[in-house]
Amino acid sequence: MTDAKLSSSVYFSKEEFGPNFKWGVSVAAYQIEGAHDADGKGLSIWDTFTNKKGKIRDNHNGNTATDFYSRYQEDIDLIKKLNIPNFRFSIAWSRILPDGTGEINLAGINFYRNVIDYCLSQGIEPWITLYHWDLPHELEKKGGWTNRNVIAWFEEFVSVCAKNFGDKVKNWMVMNEPVVFTGAGYFLGLHAPGRRGMKNFLPAIHYTTLAIATGARKLREIIPEANIGTTFSCSYLEPYRNLERDKKAVKRVDALLNRLYIEPLLGLGYPDEELPILKGIKKISFPEDEKNMVFDFDFIGIQNYTREIIKNSWLIPYVKASLVKAEKRNVTLTEMKWEVYPEAMYQMIKKFNQYPQIKKLMITENGAAFPDELINDEIIDLQRTKYIQDNLGQLLKAKKEGYKIDGYFVWTLTDNFEWAEGYHPRFGIIHIDFETLKRTVKNSGKWYGDFLK
Ligand code: NOJ
Repeated sequence: MTDAKLSSSVYFSKEEFGPNFKWGVSVAAYQIEGAHDADGKGLSIWDTFTNKKGKIRDNHNGNTATDFYSRYQEDIDLIKKLNIPNFRFSIAWSRILPDGTGEINLAGINFYRNVIDYCLSQGIEPWITLYHWDLPHELEKKGGWTNRNVIAWFEEFVSVCAKNFGDKVKNWMVMNEPVVFTGAGYFLGLHAPGRRGMKNFLPAIHYTTLAIATGARKLREIIPEANIGTTFSCSYLEPYRNLERDKKAVKRVDALLNRLYIEPLLGLGYPDEELPILKGIKKISFPEDEKNMVFDFDFIGIQNYTREIIKNSWLIPYVKASLVKAEKRNVTLTEMKWEVYPEAMYQMIKKFNQYPQIKKLMITENGAAFPDELINDEIIDLQRTKYIQDNLGQLLKAKKEGYKIDGYFVWTLTDNFEWAEGYHPRFGIIHIDFETLKRTVKNSGKWYGDFLK
C-alpha cells in the first residue's frame, strides 16, 4: 500500500478535533536516554534492577537505550519534521540529584535545559513528566516508596525541577501511571525495585498518592501559571460471562486498575468498598492525609492501550478476579499480547468524563507494538498506522458526542526499552537499529506527520 492510500484511509481531518486540541508524542527518560552513569548521574532502581540476571527479557538494560542523551537534537529535528507540536518527556531524578536529595548535579540540569531550549528553538512545546518510574537507587536503599519520607524527598526533587526549568516550561505532569509502578514494582516484583506483597504495596500506594498531591502543590507554589496534570493508566473492562460474580469481579478490578489513585486525588477517597484490603492504609495514615492527598489539577492524562476481560476467580487473593488472556480469545494481538480494541478509547473517555472534578482530559499515551521489518530503508507498519487511526476515530466520536477530550499524544517517538520486555516490543513511529542507533521514520510516523501538516 502506498503512503497516499494510507493517508486517505481516514475519513477525518485534524481540523475536526478543534483549534485548541493538543497533538503530541511521548517518551520517558529511562527508556531512551542511555548514558546511565554519564556526567555525574547517580544510579536509579532501573539501573540496579536490570543488572540482576533474569529480571528482564534477554537481560537487556537501558545503559545505552537509543542514546537520546547525545542524540536529542536529531530526535527533536524528527519531531519537527513530523509536524508534532508537543513533546512529552520525563526527568531522570538521579541525573539531577544523584543521591535523590542534597547535592545537585549541574551537568544533569544543563542536559534538560538544552533539551528544553532546543525544543523551543524548533517551535516545539515541552511537556515534562517529573516521575516516570526511575527512583534514585540511594532512596530505595532507605525504603523507597514504602518510606513516608519519600514524600519530602519527592517534594525536594520537584522543587529543583520547578526552579530550574519553570522559567521555560509551562506544562507539567507530576507522575506517570502510579498503579503500574507500585503494582509491578512493589506488589508483583516484576518491575524495579522488584519488591512484593501487601506489606510493600499498601505503603507505596499511600505515599505515592500523597507525593503526587504534594508535588503538584510545590509546582503551583513555584510556578503559579503552570499547567499542571498527572497521568494514569486505565483499562476498559468487560465481564467474561453475563454472570453476577463476573460483574462483581469487574468492579473490584476497576477499583484497582482505574480508580485507586485518581479518586483519592480528586477528593473521593480510596475505593475501599470494592477493595476492603485498602482499609489497611488507615494504619499508616495521619489525620491530615485525607486533605493533603487532594489537588485541583488543570488536566488529567489517561493512557489506554486495550480492553481486558475479567472473570471471577477465588484463586487470586484480594481482587478475587482474573484476566482472561487475550491470547485465548481469538482476537488480534499486538506484540505485547494485548488485544487490538480501539473502542476502548471511546469507552475510557466516556468513563473519565464522569468525574466533574476533571477540567481537561488528555490522552497522554496511546500506541502499539508490532514486529516491524526494515526493507529498503522503509518500514511499512500498516498495523500500527491503522491502530493509531482507529483510536483517533474513536476519540473523535467521543468528542463529537460532546465528551471532554483535549489532546492526544502518541506512544512513542522511537523504538525503546520496554521495561521487563527489553527491546523486543517496538512501539516507535520511528525505527531504531539498536546496533547502529540509526533512526528511520516508519510509515506510521509519515502518516502522523502528514495528518498534522
Ligand atoms: C505505559 C508506560 O508509561 C510506558 O512507559 C510504556 O512503555 C507504555 N505504557 C507501553 O507499555
